[in-house]
Amino acid sequence: MSAPTDEGDGQSLERVPRALSTREAWLDPFDWYAEMREDRPVRYDDDRRCWDVFRYDDVDRILDDPETFSSDPRLASAIDLPPEEEQSPILETMLTTDGDRHDRLRGVVEDWFRPRAIAERAGRFEAIAADLLDDAIDGGRMDLVDDFAYPFPVIVIAELLGVPSEDRPQFRRWSETLVETPTDTSDDAMEAFQRRQQQASEELADYFEAKLDARAREPRDDLISVIAEAAGADRLTGEEALGFCMLLLVAGNITTTNLVGNAMRCLTAHPEAMERVRTGDVAMESTIEEVLRYRSPVQALARVATRDVELRGMDIEEGDTVVPWLGAANRDPSVFESPEQFRVDRAPNPHFGFGRGTHYCLGAPLARMEARIGLRALFDRAADIRRVGEQLQPVRSAFIYGVEEFPIEFRPQH
Ligand code: HEM
Repeated sequence: MSAPTDEGDGQSLERVPRALSTREAWLDPFDWYAEMREDRPVRYDDDRRCWDVFRYDDVDRILDDPETFSSDPRLASAIDLPPEEEQSPILETMLTTDGDRHDRLRGVVEDWFRPRAIAERAGRFEAIAADLLDDAIDGGRMDLVDDFAYPFPVIVIAELLGVPSEDRPQFRRWSETLVETPTDTSDDAMEAFQRRQQQASEELADYFEAKLDARAREPRDDLISVIAEAAGADRLTGEEALGFCMLLLVAGNITTTNLVGNAMRCLTAHPEAMERVRTGDVAMESTIEEVLRYRSPVQALARVATRDVELRGMDIEEGDTVVPWLGAANRDPSVFESPEQFRVDRAPNPHFGFGRGTHYCLGAPLARMEARIGLRALFDRAADIRRVGEQLQPVRSAFIYGVEEFPIEFRPQH
């Protein structure tokens, strides 16, 4: 990632802060967070034209007050979205709306994502994990991301939605483009980047439009049918229905991939902790919570102030974009003891890995179960797991945190 250099119209989350603009910094932003938490806990960044917020209680206050800190990027005064983007279905979702509209949208699929509903599908998820690992395990070496952490959640969300999981190379291309942070911020490159994002968004919308039509005619036991039915009953507009499918696909695949990848990055760096997890001396559940805190797959969110408001002595104006750094709050020493230590048995662990408040991650029960099943399946088939390879490459996004590849070696267990 290169440093942002111009004054273009990019959104705050399309750009990384200058301090994090190298690969090394983005892989390990935690010293910078500590410095900011201490010296400039609420600061304005002229490059990205937004506020950055680093301390736990300030992040909490923002996420807890959606009336003052809205999730709708169209309210931001520093961002002029091109008209075609303003109307993109991806902005017509629960993630980017507030109040009654948000609740109406979330209500359409909420039942599907409750822990009980997700638990009923555990057997199927275990079978998917087993299939993938049985294919990859024999040689004693694999790329954890490509061979497992990526395909596993994508197959799961594709099955829940009701789309063929063989289309996953396309899902990956579309999803990665939609969360990408441009490496070159010159005007030409930004224009090309925005065109690519627009194209990915249109292709994804076309893809789901056809699927929604098909399910409206012939419903099945899947999420697209639920969404098509809500649209047919006028509980969703056509754009909202499309946005729904796009959001679930993108949210359901990039983040969980990084949770599994980040978990193995943590555990291979702490072999003694891995052994405790593998043998059941410490619960998989608390291990996953600690990964969510220590290497949060989503490092930052974005909100827009709907009125003038003061935060830690700083005057935030209506229309200003505010970026709460979950990754920094999750290491705030005023809440977490020895926050720079990875402790698999940490309790309590009130991290913001899945956000907080009305927008708290809808997929949290699903992601937790996928991580649990995925890691257990891996430990059942592989012993002495070690990281190999020299340099890690971060995913190309300023708010998603993970690595593009993670080669490992191990002793296959049969
Ligand atoms: C919201 C993280 C997996 C669907 C969120 C938010 C975070 C988050 C931080 C809050 C966004 C905000 O406040 O602006 C994660 C992480 C995951 C994960 C770390 C995996 C480890 C999933 C999965 C799905 C999903 C598997 C399922 C399809 C959603 C949706 C929202 C959301 C729909 C919006 C909820 C709302 O606005 O009411 N997620 N997520 N996520 N997540 Fe996840």
